[in-house]
Amino acid sequence: MIKIPLFRPNITKEDFLNIKKVLKSGQLSRGPFVEQFEQEFAKFVGCRFAVAVNSGTSGLDICMKALGITKNDKVITSAYSFIASVNCILYQHATPVFCDTNTHNGLININEVKRHISNEIKAILPVDIFGQQCDLSELTKFGIPIIVDSCESFGAPLQDGALANVYGFYPNKQITTGEGGMIVTNDEQFAEKLRSLRNQGFKKSARYLEEIDIGFNFRMSDINAALGIAQLHKAKNILKKRQTIAHQYFELLRYIPEIKFILNLKDTNVSIFNMPVMCKNTNIRQSIIKEFEKNNIEYSLGFPPLVRFAYVQKITGYKPIDFPNAETFAEHLLCLPMFTDMSVKQIKYVVKSIKQGIVNAQN
Ligand SMILES: Cc1ncc(COP(=O)(O)O)c(C=O)c1O
Repeated sequence: MIKIPLFRPNITKEDFLNIKKVLKSGQLSRGPFVEQFEQEFAKFVGCRFAVAVNSGTSGLDICMKALGITKNDKVITSAYSFIASVNCILYQHATPVFCDTNTHNGLININEVKRHISNEIKAILPVDIFGQQCDLSELTKFGIPIIVDSCESFGAPLQDGALANVYGFYPNKQITTGEGGMIVTNDEQFAEKLRSLRNQGFKKSARYLEEIDIGFNFRMSDINAALGIAQLHKAKNILKKRQTIAHQYFELLRYIPEIKFILNLKDTNVSIFNMPVMCKNTNIRQSIIKEFEKNNIEYSLGFPPLVRFAYVQKITGYKPIDFPNAETFAEHLLCLPMFTDMSVKQIKYVVKSIKQGIVNAQN
């Protein structure tokens, strides 16, 4: 069997055609494609405003900056996420307050968040890990701005009480722009601030010397936006196909007691990003990995919990032992291949290798 990749972007004729249009137009940046992508994206998720940026990371950064997060502030985030979820807090010289996760799905534990609320907390940054959405209903009453790291949950709606969602379009995501991100919000002033920060801190129609803040160049180019538009046009279909693949995996894995399926497929809000499962123990995971490597199947072990990074420990003083659920989750996690045009034959091959890995571990 030829290699089964962990992810593969869905690139079709429409993507090529749209990019060609930009190249032909000669306006490769600050042109109409970015605006079109923003408008169509806002409509897709049912939001008033969408602001395109050049990565999910830069989207998170300017959200923190736009909130005015600074040195003596604290921001709550999950102990289990991609490193950008904490770097955006550290860039502002603010203090991250990590909360442990749920054991079953890796999402931030809402009771832990509630336990850490204080006057010093200036923002909450939950993470929609593996396309699952955190239930924010109990957090909105605190009046603290909530920025959701939705980099893995393309299409997730902005929940009531959340200020913004930040999506990412790296090629392992449900839709891609190569590199890119999008922030959605219903707050006009916040959107304007974001537009300014992504473009050197300029005012909307800036003239010479009309900067309003220290900004960045986090703009998305029209080439990336054109790809984004073409991807968005087939997004419903992409999400549907990925749901189908997730169900096929589920049907084949549900009778294997050594493997626990993480995603709740009955929850229609789950946007299938990858295919995370929990292995019964690290021995079994190791044995499955060995089988995958033998059979040319790509996999991922997900993220290390954030406090495993030495510099995060040094700055924050936290230790991995402070977040036992995130640690256990990370040690048992295995992410299986997931891409939109994955065939049933490929899914069956992955599952066969899992079964063989389990048999090997037991002998
Ligand atoms: C949870 C999470 N947050 C943030 C990011 C950063 O997005 P980007 O790679 O577009 O900067 C990612 C990217 O994979 C992510 O998975």
